[in-house]
Amino acid sequence: MKKANVYVTREIPGENLEELRKHFAVEVNPDDRTLTKAELKQKVKGRDAILSLITDAIDGEVLDAAGPQCKIVANYAVGFNNFDLAAATQRGVILTNTPGVLDDATATHTMALLLATARRLAESDRYVRAGKWDGWKPLLFLGMDVDHRTLGVAGMGRIGANVARKAKSFDMKIIYSDVQRNERVEKELGATYVNKERLLKESDFLTLHVPLMPQTRHYIGAPELKLMKQTAVLINACRGPVVDEKALLKALREKWIWGAGLDVFENEPELVPGLAELDNVTLAPHTASATFQTRTAMGQIAVNNIIKVLSGQPPDTCVNPEVLKK
Ligand code: GLV
Repeated sequence: MKKANVYVTREIPGENLEELRKHFAVEVNPDDRTLTKAELKQKVKGRDAILSLITDAIDGEVLDAAGPQCKIVANYAVGFNNFDLAAATQRGVILTNTPGVLDDATATHTMALLLATARRLAESDRYVRAGKWDGWKPLLFLGMDVDHRTLGVAGMGRIGANVARKAKSFDMKIIYSDVQRNERVEKELGATYVNKERLLKESDFLTLHVPLMPQTRHYIGAPELKLMKQTAVLINACRGPVVDEKALLKALREKWIWGAGLDVFENEPELVPGLAELDNVTLAPHTASATFQTRTAMGQIAVNNIIKVLSGQPPDTCVNPEVLKK
């Protein structure tokens, strides 16, 4: 029997691809770059499954180019705003993501950005390397205390709760807002559910963990930044468009807030002009889940989902479950 055919839109680490090759004919994009829409449409033609990244827009056009035999698109990410869920469901294509295995890595990276921004580590590193350090000074790189201060969490899902749990080891007071209360986390961490206005006004550190949806686009814009404390730090390791980056640039320039730590940007990999010149922002290239162990675990989930679906079983982590009822 002809082996099923899988297309992988970009090389992924670990032994995951070997596992796929044991079962299927596998082709991997050999170039270390995102495919254009035209290339993607051409490459997916006739495939039974696609392993995609968040940088690949998987919409009706791409799925039609793949053809009706395509059964699953497995995203190598927990976020799936690159998927057109309705288009896939309508065509009977199963979509999956990689939840759970990247919570720790993402939350650790969030804390790293928070700590680095509070204690001005990236700026300090640049200063020492430039040979500017000429001795201990009482006023050199004064930062913000983290311990015992208030952490605001926007979106108390798996990752938000994981950050809050880590922040408890700094004895931080946790407040959060979400579309629904998370009573388990309230009990476990003593977190207080507040409305968005209180979250903005009371947080010393505000960390964002909401999914990107029409309702969360520009969740933080100029009016929100104006409500925050002048001493506050904003951390974003969820999705860039959740923050109005132009407004944030203005806020950082004009010191409406004290600093920001960003792993994600509105138009990746572009930054809003001027952002990279500011010292009160710590920048990372969307690497929150980037550890050897985590990326391998993500690959394992994506590969298992493809193996299961192509052998007629339901996947472990479907994001459009209505399609399974068809
Ligand atoms: C990365 O951003 C992810 O959603 O996994």
